[in-house]
Amino acid sequence: MSRTVYVNRRYMPEEQATVSIFDRGFLFADAVYEVTSVVGGKMLDFTAHAKRLERSLGELDMAAPCTMDELEQIHRQLIERNELDEGLVYLQVTRGAADRDFAYPVGATPTLVLFTQAKSIIDSPTAQTGIKVISIPDIRWGRRDIKTVQLLAPSMGKMAAKAAGADDAWLVEDGFVTEGTSNNAYIVTADGTIVTRDLSNDILHGITRAAVLRFAAEAQMAIEERPFTIDEALNAKEAFFTSASAFVCPVVQMDGQAIGDGKVGPVAKRLREIYLEESLKTAT
Ligand code: PDD
Repeated sequence: MSRTVYVNRRYMPEEQATVSIFDRGFLFADAVYEVTSVVGGKMLDFTAHAKRLERSLGELDMAAPCTMDELEQIHRQLIERNELDEGLVYLQVTRGAADRDFAYPVGATPTLVLFTQAKSIIDSPTAQTGIKVISIPDIRWGRRDIKTVQLLAPSMGKMAAKAAGADDAWLVEDGFVTEGTSNNAYIVTADGTIVTRDLSNDILHGITRAAVLRFAAEAQMAIEERPFTIDEALNAKEAFFTSASAFVCPVVQMDGQAIGDGKVGPVAKRLREIYLEESLKTAT
């Protein structure tokens, strides 16, 4: 079925949607994006995604294509027009079309594209079984806190994982895990402490991460925000990851070795339940 998508102030069938070949998103990956999950036709944490988008735009001196209120309305329109019950809304802003030049063009009009993707996020098989990851070097650039569309390194990581018979890769820099290819990474230590890397330019400041840590703290769970090593992950009781497109998902194997007993652990399971319960309460 053809979707209705949004391109530069117009809703249209996906087959008719086009962007200029001179668009800097296409030529320079000069673009930022957001992925917001939808459950029961409602968005989870839209305001936090809009805030992070504003921050990404600001860090790159990129003009906002419209107000955040207008963005929210476009999200809603797309959910409605596509009768999206469960899935994702993808949004991308580029600096716009201009003659090819490394320097930012003056006065270019930003390109704004949004589309929906139907997906079962709640009843996901991987949440039931957990996933297998491999560890690989983090070859990405130094501003991973900006959510840009430079996603070739993560794509290469996913392909390396696939080739190794795993589902995803955890990225390692200077001996420490930064994050997953498209998610934030966590371990649970022998004493039950949830450990995840602290926020810096080294990782994306996940919206799901912020929510999960808030809910975990409210549930009196112990949390440490610090880098951890692959060795710590291999010896952990549990491991899991978070993202808007997967919520909380267990990791049961790394580099061919079982983590904990190799089964979905109680902390990841509980956090997934709490996350879903709490975020659905405030979904809009
Ligand atoms: N990925 N780290 C990276 C590198 C990511 O790409 C993502 C999100 C996250 C988790 O952030 P959040 O909880 O805000 O989704 C962490 C999205 C879902 C994607 O690229 O599809």
